[in-house]
Amino acid sequence: MTKININLQDHEVDAPGDTPLLWVLRDVVGLTGTKFGCGIGQCGACTVHLDGQPIRSCVTPLVLAVQPDDPTILGSIAQVFWYQGRYELAVEYMSRSLDRSPGYVMAQLFSSALWLYLDEVERAERALVTARGLLGDEPILDANEALLWAKRGDEGRALDALARAAQDKRSLGHDHHANHHAAAAYAVLGRREEAVEQLRIASHSGLPNHPLFAKDPHFASLQDVPAMQQLMAELAQSDAAYRAEFGRSR
Ligand code: FES
Repeated sequence: MTKININLQDHEVDAPGDTPLLWVLRDVVGLTGTKFGCGIGQCGACTVHLDGQPIRSCVTPLVLAVQPDDPTILGSIAQVFWYQGRYELAVEYMSRSLDRSPGYVMAQLFSSALWLYLDEVERAERALVTARGLLGDEPILDANEALLWAKRGDEGRALDALARAAQDKRSLGHDHHANHHAAAAYAVLGRREEAVEQLRIASHSGLPNHPLFAKDPHFASLQDVPAMQQLMAELAQSDAAYRAEFGRSR
């Protein structure tokens, strides 16, 4: 049960934390004046005020309505939007996370890469400089830097950063993120086999996320590479096997 105060009235809500606030308001609390429009945070039909701020309730999970300032929740939501391919929302939530806690490691690790998904290279560079200052030598930041240089068309610097990302050194995050971002850099450089190899490594070290790989715009050029097709087929197959074993369906 989650306690939420709406219009000065407390409500006990029995819904998972990731339920969009819109459906909590409409279906659980019965406030059907809150309207559904696009469902993707763009039209504004579902706007409500949270702590005096207008928010789009269709893309605001319940947990955030209850703890709107928690940098960990904001960062986690950013990552969910990222993996759904909703990069503007991901950047918005990651930036809010950093506003509340500039030293939050996870947000510092990912912020520069996220800006690159919007092709905001200058902002990505500023985020990278800040993150380097806080976190120092870090393979995920090396991979982010490689993607930055690849997007600027500087293959030499991109390859140099990729070589640093591949060195055997400790990361404050999970190594598979460095592989994922390195794959994006290789793909932008047109080195498709190396890109697929990085995705294979990421898949085998905790990120077997074939829907993410299918959505990621950096990997569009890999879809006709036989090794990529094979990897995606393998991941879909093991995904289906897990879902069958644990009794879950999409
Ligand atoms: S329904 Fe369109 S922004 Fe929420």
